[in-house]
Amino acid sequence: MHVLFLSPEVWPFSHVGGLSEVSHDLPLALGRAGHQVAVITPGLNINGNSSEGLKKLDIVLDVPVSYSVQRANVYLREMGKGVNAYLIGHENMFDRDGLYGNQFGDYEDNAERFVFFSRACLELAKAMDWKVDIVHANDWTTGLVPLYMRTIYKDTACLRKAASVFTVHNIGKQGVFWHYDMPLTGLGWECFTPELIEFYGKINFLKAGLVAADMITTVSDTYLRDILTQDLGFGLEGVLNSRRDRLVAITNGVDFSVWDPATDKHLAANYDAANLENKKICQTDVRRHFGLDMEGSRPVLAVLGNLLERKGTDLVAGSADEIIQMGFDLVVMGFGDNHYHDLLDAAVKRHPQNMGLWLGFETELAHKIIAGADMILMPSRYEPCGLHQMHGMRYGTVPIVRRTGGLADTVADFDQSADGNGFVFDQYSSEAMLAALSRAKDVFAAPDRWRDLILRGMNSDFSWNSAVVNYDQVYRRALELRNNVEEAPRHD
Ligand code: GLC
Repeated sequence: MHVLFLSPEVWPFSHVGGLSEVSHDLPLALGRAGHQVAVITPGLNINGNSSEGLKKLDIVLDVPVSYSVQRANVYLREMGKGVNAYLIGHENMFDRDGLYGNQFGDYEDNAERFVFFSRACLELAKAMDWKVDIVHANDWTTGLVPLYMRTIYKDTACLRKAASVFTVHNIGKQGVFWHYDMPLTGLGWECFTPELIEFYGKINFLKAGLVAADMITTVSDTYLRDILTQDLGFGLEGVLNSRRDRLVAITNGVDFSVWDPATDKHLAANYDAANLENKKICQTDVRRHFGLDMEGSRPVLAVLGNLLERKGTDLVAGSADEIIQMGFDLVVMGFGDNHYHDLLDAAVKRHPQNMGLWLGFETELAHKIIAGADMILMPSRYEPCGLHQMHGMRYGTVPIVRRTGGLADTVADFDQSADGNGFVFDQYSSEAMLAALSRAKDVFAAPDRWRDLILRGMNSDFSWNSAVVNYDQVYRRALELRNNVEEAPRHD
C-alpha cells in the first residue's frame, strides 16, 4: 500500500515526546513489511539548512490558508527501505526554536500553523500525483486531514480512493481554538456543528480526526478503555463511544536496532543478558555525568521525559527528599513546567551527592541513563503507551510504574504476577509510589531475585512486528469501509 504518514514530530528531525520516536520506527517497520511510506512532517528551522542529506525538491507548494496562499518548500530524505521523509519548509511557520511553543507557552498562531501543515501534506500528494491508499494522521496537529479528505479534497484524483486512519497518542491535547479561526481552516461554517468540529462553542482539531477518519487507533488496550471514560476522555469520550466500532488499540513497539545494549554506541560499555557486568561501567558513567557519589552502592533511580503533571512530575518533585532518604540516588532528565524545574533544582541543591538533574532532552544521555540506572520510575497520571518502560526492560533497568494506559499493559508486578517484570502501583499518590519503590528496593537487596527480574525484562518482546500486522489490518479495513460503503459525508 502507498501510505502517507503525517506527523508533527519525527525523529531525527524533531523531538518533543514519544510520538517522534514512533513516527520514525513505525514507518520503517511498515516499509520492511513491503509498504511504500511517505512520512510528511514540518521542517523545523530547515530553511537555508539543507545539510544532513536533505535534498530540496524543485517543487514549490501553494498552500491556501484563510484568504492567502502560503508558499512552501519541500525537502526530501530517504529514511529506509520504501520510506521517504518529506519536510515542509516555511520560514514564518516553522523556523522557530520550539515545535509547539516556547518558554512562554504554546504559540498563539498554532491554529494557522497546523492548518497550513495539514493542507500542505495534501497539496504535496497532489503535486506529486501519488496514488495514495492510506493517509495516516497522528494527533490533533493533523486532525483536520481526515475531514479535509471528505470536503475540500474529496474530488482530488490522487486521493479519491484513499482511506484515512487517525491515531490518538494523547487525547489530553486537542487543538481547541476559538470559532473566529473557522475561516483559517478553509472549511465552511456548515462544518461548525456538534457532529463535526464544533466543541463547546470552539473548534476542536482532534475531534475532526475522530469524526471523519475511516478508522481510529490508539496506542494501547488500556488507554483505549481509558479514553472512553469521563475521567480520561477529556470531553471526547462521547464522540469516541459513538465511533467505537471504528476504534482499535495497537500497542507501540521499540526499535531494537536503536535500543540494544549489546550494540548501543552511546554507552560507555556494551552488555547483554548473558553478561551483565558492563552495566556497572554504564552506571559509573551516569554517576560521573551527574556528579553523584562515585563510591555509592545505592540503587540509581531514573526519571526521564517531559516534566509535566500528566507524567506524575508533581509526585517525583514532591517526594524527592523521601526517595533519597529511602536510599536511592535519583537522576532526572527532561523538560517541562518551570515550576517543576525549580522544585527539582532545589532538591538537587539539598542532595548534591545523591541527586542529579538535566533540563532538556539529549538522545545520547537518554541512552546512557537507561543503561546506567537500576530502575526507571514512571508515575504518570495517564499514559497512552509510554516507551521508556520498554527501553528500560530491554536494558535490564526495572520499571516502576502507575497502573494506567500502556504502562498497565506492558509492566506486570513482580510481587503479584508469576511473570512480573517490574513494580506497579494503583493510586495516584506519593504514598502508593513510595510503597512501590520500597518493594523494589527490597528485591534489589536480594541479588539473585533482582537478576531474575532483570532477565525477564531483557527477554520480553516489544518489537514492532505484531503492531505492523495490526496496522496492516486496520489499513485494509479502512479501505474496505471507504470504497465499498458509499457513505454520504454528513455535512453535505
Ligand atoms: C505520546 C504519549 C506516550 C506514547 C507516545 C507515542 O507521547 O504520551 O504515552 O508512548 O505518544 O505513541
